[in-house]
Amino acid sequence: MCGIVGYVGKDNAKNVVIDGLKRLEYRGYDSAGIALIVNGKLQVFKKSGKIRNLERELNKLNVFSNIGIGHTRWATHGDPTDINAHPHTDCTKTVAVVHNGIIENHSSLKERLIKEGHRFTSETDTEVIAHLIEEKLKKHDHFFEAFTQAVKELKGSYAIVAITEKEPDKLFVARKDSPLVLGIGDEETFVASDIPAFLSYTNKVVFLENGEVGVITPTYFKIFDLQGKERKKEITTINWSLAQAEKAGYKHFMLKEIYEQPRAVADTISGNLPWFRGEMPIKGLGNFKPERIQIVACGTSYYAGLVGKFYFENFARIPTEVDYASEYRYRNPVVNENTLIIAITQSGETADTLAAMRLAKERKAKVLTVCNVIGSSATRESDAVLYTYAGPEISVASTKAFTTQLTVLYLLSIHFAVRKNLISNPDIYLEKISEIPSLMEQFLEEEKKKQEVKNLADRFHKVSNALYLGRHVNYPIALEGALKLKEISYIHAEGYPAGEMKHGPIALIDENMPVVTIATKGRVYEKILSNLAEVKSRKGITITVTNESCKEVIENSDFSIIVPETDEFLSPLINVIPLQLLAYYIADFLGYDVDQPRNLAKSVTVE
Ligand code: F6R
Repeated sequence: MCGIVGYVGKDNAKNVVIDGLKRLEYRGYDSAGIALIVNGKLQVFKKSGKIRNLERELNKLNVFSNIGIGHTRWATHGDPTDINAHPHTDCTKTVAVVHNGIIENHSSLKERLIKEGHRFTSETDTEVIAHLIEEKLKKHDHFFEAFTQAVKELKGSYAIVAITEKEPDKLFVARKDSPLVLGIGDEETFVASDIPAFLSYTNKVVFLENGEVGVITPTYFKIFDLQGKERKKEITTINWSLAQAEKAGYKHFMLKEIYEQPRAVADTISGNLPWFRGEMPIKGLGNFKPERIQIVACGTSYYAGLVGKFYFENFARIPTEVDYASEYRYRNPVVNENTLIIAITQSGETADTLAAMRLAKERKAKVLTVCNVIGSSATRESDAVLYTYAGPEISVASTKAFTTQLTVLYLLSIHFAVRKNLISNPDIYLEKISEIPSLMEQFLEEEKKKQEVKNLADRFHKVSNALYLGRHVNYPIALEGALKLKEISYIHAEGYPAGEMKHGPIALIDENMPVVTIATKGRVYEKILSNLAEVKSRKGITITVTNESCKEVIENSDFSIIVPETDEFLSPLINVIPLQLLAYYIADFLGYDVDQPRNLAKSVTVE
């Protein structure tokens, strides 16, 4: 999730763009860059690290330009270096491009362009866009025509802004599945991936839709579909404060991040497609065939690992253990060169997880990290890395990192199954997981559903205890639901495998105990029904997350949250969402600092 800013107008673009980039730093930063057209010549400045580093360099130069584009990067393809920072240029160095998203077909486009004589300088997927425009300019006189033809060849997600020496008073924009919004000022126009970038200059905005391309000048903008038909666009006036705008109008980052999950999961699927089908090994693993997997992680990432165990054992038939990293490092584990360690970590900086990885490495195991932060310690210390494409997670309570971790683990298990000849058609599994983003959206977009969860939160926010139950792949989701409630609302909650209830915790149940049970369709459906009856007969308050077709569950519940039905192995990705929302609304009713709960830090870099 990078940040884009573009400006054309009467001011010095350098200052406006840098100011905008700083306001987008919350979207992630590992490097930044800016392109200006100074006296008719394109000039590009890039720097790794914080935007401050780039600003310092620019301040040494006396440059003035009425047009500029800038980018703050959260690396997806290629390390966070000066060279990989955006903007990227073509061979003639007259076209500059900034991009947010993932170009899925960048490898094949790059191969073709190299054959046509293009020379690439970075490892990014974005650079192909600049070269593709250059190629199209050989056949099309007008830059906008060449730009549109290039965009038509791109697969994946993108928000793109380009400038060219050929037409130095225009910004060229395109959008698909990555946000892009125009800011309409007085003889000046802005474009950005998010409104805060220009909100201090104008609050009149135009939202671009998927499949739109356009030309922006200081005094007008024209937006078209990819077939060249002009689109009528409405100007909206925004009344948000800057702080509200950073959260895209959501009250907290946590809520925003819950709502970002469809996009985050879709990006994680497409970002990991190159290796998924098992035709080639994962970089860093070679032809390694793990005899055993040991997953090490902490907190929410550990719960993702518990779901992963089901995937690796069910699909790839690889014996899998899951450990808290803090326990693993002190338990003298049996590990050797045939063991694959999978470290799951959003931040890549968790001290215990790093220590567990180092221990396993000393004992000759291969280490693969599933991580959200490029260049983090965990990614640098592993043999192989698979990224989650969640974008920066700002709320301390993890949400979108969790569902994207599940996505990677699912894809990885199918990959191993293909390489072991246990699965011959991985596309069947790809189709199933590709439905998840729209099912998530279906749930999140329904106002009635949101209200139901809010009502539940209103009713139960004063309780002191809660039990969460689940079985099979949804047992870790019960643990995650309880953790979410504990960490942001400070209510004591316990997650339990529903079948274990009768061995102890059932003693806790009385008419004051809310019991949240995940009871969606799957192989343990009948079993969970009996567990629900056990709770009911002890007068517990039954709250279920279930599917519309689960009539018996609904009849036996005091309250039900209906979620879309999906493949049972993928149901955790859907079922966790109402639990995230329930915890969020309870903490909000209690008036707590949802994004920064007491005693917690986003990355735990101490033991
Ligand atoms: C809970 C939460 C934590 C983290 C844990 C591991 O919402 O965020 O439990 O999951 O601290 O952090 P990472 O994944 O960065 O290693």
